[in-house]
Amino acid sequence: MQATELKDGIFWVGAIDWDVRDFHGYQTSLGSTYNAYLVRDTKTVLFDTVKKGFLDDLVNHISQVTNPSDIDYIVVDHVEMDHSAELPNVIDLVRPEKVFCSANGKKALLAHFHRDDWPLEVVANGDKLELGDRTVQFFETKMLHWPDSMMSYFADQGLLVSQDGFGQHWATSERFDDEVDVGVLYYETKWYYANIILPYSNFVQKLLQNVRESGMSIDMIAPDHGLIWRRDVDKVLGMYDQWSRQVTCAKAVVVYDTMWESTTKMAHAVAEGIQKQGVGVKVMNLRSVHRSDVIAELQDSRALVVGSPTLNNGMMPRVADVLTYLKGLRPAGKIGAAFGSYGWGGEAVKLINASLEEMNVELLHEGVRVNYVPTDADLAQCVGLGEKIGSAARDQAACEIPSQPANRCRERQG
Ligand code: FEO
Repeated sequence: MQATELKDGIFWVGAIDWDVRDFHGYQTSLGSTYNAYLVRDTKTVLFDTVKKGFLDDLVNHISQVTNPSDIDYIVVDHVEMDHSAELPNVIDLVRPEKVFCSANGKKALLAHFHRDDWPLEVVANGDKLELGDRTVQFFETKMLHWPDSMMSYFADQGLLVSQDGFGQHWATSERFDDEVDVGVLYYETKWYYANIILPYSNFVQKLLQNVRESGMSIDMIAPDHGLIWRRDVDKVLGMYDQWSRQVTCAKAVVVYDTMWESTTKMAHAVAEGIQKQGVGVKVMNLRSVHRSDVIAELQDSRALVVGSPTLNNGMMPRVADVLTYLKGLRPAGKIGAAFGSYGWGGEAVKLINASLEEMNVELLHEGVRVNYVPTDADLAQCVGLGEKIGSAARDQAACEIPSQPANRCRERQG
């Protein structure tokens, strides 16, 4: 690949990971990139590095612009290992005069690499660093994505280097938003938000407020993953505003696992009832979809209905997995219910209800349980459950999203 100039004297020098398919539990079907940026000025500065194993790509791209030993400063906008694992090797190679980071960044770097000999220099929110013709200003963005996170803003160039914010996990040879399919771009941006950023939505609101109130002028956003925004800056800022307000649409997700297809029949009957109320529904069998697709579909849905047969006095393992994942990502403002088949005991519905309540999902029903194989009457009860959920979702949703990214669900892998 080639280093790419974003703005005069500012280059993409990162790495492309065509192969990664699991990002701490998030299925990255299209790979990812670990973007790093190089500024050539009186001072030559590298912003972030790359995941372990991608040092050669980074050094190759830097070398297309300048000799790596010319780098004076390194800025660590984010310490997570996908952006810092090769930092020790880069520091050994270039021997920078200073490594800039936030106060939390310094703590995190020391806790990761245990190198108190590094020339770490802490910058505070709003601090400016003169590089020559260019000045960079640092903004702390705690919890976007980690406590150490900060963004780097070039006011004169209208450029925001946003580390994890506004990214996508998508490996491409293209670098800019206007060079790729816009449907896939928005789709991957939404999937990334749901799986990475969603629990920190209140911090996104603070960031957007700061952008508005400070009068920052941004015509390019360069994240640490995926495409660089130069055509759709306002669009992605608007999407982040909508997603971080957790606006829900008249849409429901029915997610389930099954043992002998009884719970499948129930899931389809629940979905039929939801659809009868004019509400969109996504039926997600956990044997064919991944947990990361479930949260992405749920993110802007009003309702979550979860089904599991009872297995060994519990719920099916895939259902427990997805509920754990969803709980951690903290989707807000949902209504829901549970259902499932059982032979004896029948604890699964009760356990799912407890999990949904822990997620602050408002339960609209005590749940439908069916002994072994559902009769027509049982399925009618499931349709009724769906209708109850559907009518509430229709009446309560405040969907303000005019156009959704394409609804497609990738096949489960592995
Ligand atoms: Fe891309 Fe939070 O690391």
